[in-house]
Amino acid sequence: MVAAAIIVDGRLLLAQRTRPPELAGLWELPGGKAEAGETAEDALRRELREELGIEVSGGDRIGDDVPLPDGRVLRAYRVELVSGTPVALDHADLRWVDGRELGEIDLVGNDRGWVPDLRLHLNGW
Ligand code: C5P
Repeated sequence: MVAAAIIVDGRLLLAQRTRPPELAGLWELPGGKAEAGETAEDALRRELREELGIEVSGGDRIGDDVPLPDGRVLRAYRVELVSGTPVALDHADLRWVDGRELGEIDLVGNDRGWVPDLRLHLNGW
């Protein structure tokens, strides 16, 4: 599983989940599942095109691996916004947060451990 840290002008893009019910309303780094044969960058480019209508590139790791209960691993990558303006095509809402706001917003549990690493790249903390 791959998740994207998109940082523009010292703010991180967060997306609000609509499902499943226990995660609806919580915020996450957008992303999804890498298909067989896809690199992490390929998967992020496809997922962010589908979910946000944007083109991204790059893919340096940020933060630690998060083991998921089903045995898969969730990894975050820093990507650059190449073109487009993010639109919530598959989420309830989107927000750009600075370092202080990142500490206050309700993140999905899996993403919380990334906050200290993410903050190093954000303004306002
Ligand atoms: O988005 P999707 O429903 O495909 O996510 C599948 C799984 O990945 C969910 O269990 C979700 O909690 C997890 N996930 C996460 N943090 C992210 C992206 C996905 O915990 N940033």
